Amino acid sequence: MCGIVGYAGARPALGIVLDGLRRLEYRGYDSAGVAVVCEGELLTEKKAGKLANLEKVLAERPAADPVFGDGATAPGIGVGTTGIGHTRWATHGGPTDRNAHPHTAGDGRVAVIHNGIIENFAKLRAELEAEGVEFSSDTDTECAAHLLAGELARLRAAGEPDGPRLLAVAMRQVCQRLEGAFTLLAVDAGIPGAVVGARRNSPLVVGRGVGENYLASDVSAFIEHTREAVELGQDQVVLITADDIEITDFAGAPASGKDFHIDWDASAAEKGGYDYFMLKEIAEQPQAIADTLLGRLTENGEIALDEVRLTDQDLRDVDKIFIVACGTAYHAGMVAKYAIEHWTRIPCEVELASEFRYRDPVLDRSTLVVAISQSGETMDTLMALRHAKEQKARVLAICNTNGSTIPRESDAVLYTHGGPEVAVASTKAFLTQLVACYLIGLHLAQVRGIKYADEVAAVVAQLQEMPDKLRELLAGIEPVRELARDIKAAPTVLFIGRHVGFPVALEGALKLKELAYMHAEGFAAGELKHGPIALIDQGTPVVCVVPSPAGRGMLHDKIVSNIQEIRARGARTIVIAEEGDTAVTPYADHLIYVPRTPTLLAPLVTTVPLQVLACEIAAARGHDVDQPRNLAKSVTVE
Ligand code: G6P
Repeated sequence: MCGIVGYAGARPALGIVLDGLRRLEYRGYDSAGVAVVCEGELLTEKKAGKLANLEKVLAERPAADPVFGDGATAPGIGVGTTGIGHTRWATHGGPTDRNAHPHTAGDGRVAVIHNGIIENFAKLRAELEAEGVEFSSDTDTECAAHLLAGELARLRAAGEPDGPRLLAVAMRQVCQRLEGAFTLLAVDAGIPGAVVGARRNSPLVVGRGVGENYLASDVSAFIEHTREAVELGQDQVVLITADDIEITDFAGAPASGKDFHIDWDASAAEKGGYDYFMLKEIAEQPQAIADTLLGRLTENGEIALDEVRLTDQDLRDVDKIFIVACGTAYHAGMVAKYAIEHWTRIPCEVELASEFRYRDPVLDRSTLVVAISQSGETMDTLMALRHAKEQKARVLAICNTNGSTIPRESDAVLYTHGGPEVAVASTKAFLTQLVACYLIGLHLAQVRGIKYADEVAAVVAQLQEMPDKLRELLAGIEPVRELARDIKAAPTVLFIGRHVGFPVALEGALKLKELAYMHAEGFAAGELKHGPIALIDQGTPVVCVVPSPAGRGMLHDKIVSNIQEIRARGARTIVIAEEGDTAVTPYADHLIYVPRTPTLLAPLVTTVPLQVLACEIAAARGHDVDQPRNLAKSVTVE
């Protein structure tokens, strides 16, 4: 949800900011813009649409930019060494040039970029307009720009010494007037060499370089330059210059961040020869699973979490589990429910994070809330977590992003080591979330004395076989691609599954909606006959996720009957079944075999053909696979 980059150093800022924006573009791509401070001038450019549009306009800019007024020229935007940049996911105001960030104020000498929503913007705008301020956009952000310019003017008029600190003082004043969620970055033409940032309920990390420093929505924007980062706390203002990082709270009291080292490397965030990030990320799944499993079994045969601010007794006291998540992570939670209840015998509910706190769930000290989030910044999930904490529940996070807000506010964390996921549609994050959920289920079972160390080790060993199984599956995936091209024009595609195959069916349908913009729905196979079966027409493709016959035979037989029912009504059946399952052969128009896998772990393989199917259909329909319309990868508004 909006990507933000800031740079202060000795190198030209523009290229660094644009590279950062490219890495953050998954967060939103409705428009992009930059502002660079150069020899006492503020030079900006912004454009609706993807970053490429902005780059085109920048390329057409003369090497030297005209300075307002007398026709003289100043060094071009490519020369200044202080800059900020923004890629937008629109909230207030449509995705147009004029609503693109940065927003300027104070005669074009102050530029502000913003992620989040300023909830009291209407009131602030009315006040500013009453003072004679003219607005040039429909955004909430522009209020912050005018407030900041006003504050700087007031401080200067009061004789405050000019310089970087003035920018921080002014920003703190502004933050005290804002309600809602925001990350703000700002520069001032008269204060070269400094970028100020502020955050409340919205992500911002600092990159610590040598003779240069960075600010960004997430570390991927600057890992090419530095792997040393600083986590900021809530309600903090940070001022960066080439040589300094100064953090305070909104009242001006000195504060500190938490230093951390980023272990991803820059190449991990590049496409590496694939046409799309999504294809690369699908291919990375075996490694991502292996990495997530690495070092999880201690010498004592116990499962190791990453950060644990809970005692084993706390976990033994748990009498109810809620899993909260959104989108794909929610589907991971649905799979987790089957494993956790089976292994721990603790009742486990899965909730859409956006619904959780509004229905007033029954929570107390002995409730464990598991928050699953790739980005660690999803506002719906964060709010659910905070609600749980207010009710004294314990919170355990599963997250892929070190230093993000959700793990920071949780009592315990298990990081998925999936590496950066750039494509908006989640793939490797989903599989690694599943692995993390299995590990948490095993950990709970062990701590509570339900499973012995050797039983836990046996499941971990099965998990450790999954990377090879996935490699085998991916090596034979070509027929799925052909099938995708074949069904790309279908008006509707349905997905059915039972048991852990049900969330897989939901995930398959979600992928197709997200990427191919097709009508797709997932159902519990048993529910078909209670309504959705009416959707089946002659030739309607129905993807059937079949459980292993070796697991629970009854389950397998039931879905085979369901497949017959839909085929009798004209469906074109695409059956995902385990190798050697011949019982389904007579009813499958297309049969996709996946490697044999224990029942509860099956989603780790059955999901993969559905990811490939959606990716390929989207490509065949000419869509942007990595950046589907209307979506953003990290949704930091509620
Ligand atoms: C957005 C993305 C989805 C993702 C969901 C949850 O809606 O488009 O792909 O599953 O957020 O994201 P999280 O980062 O919390 O896992």
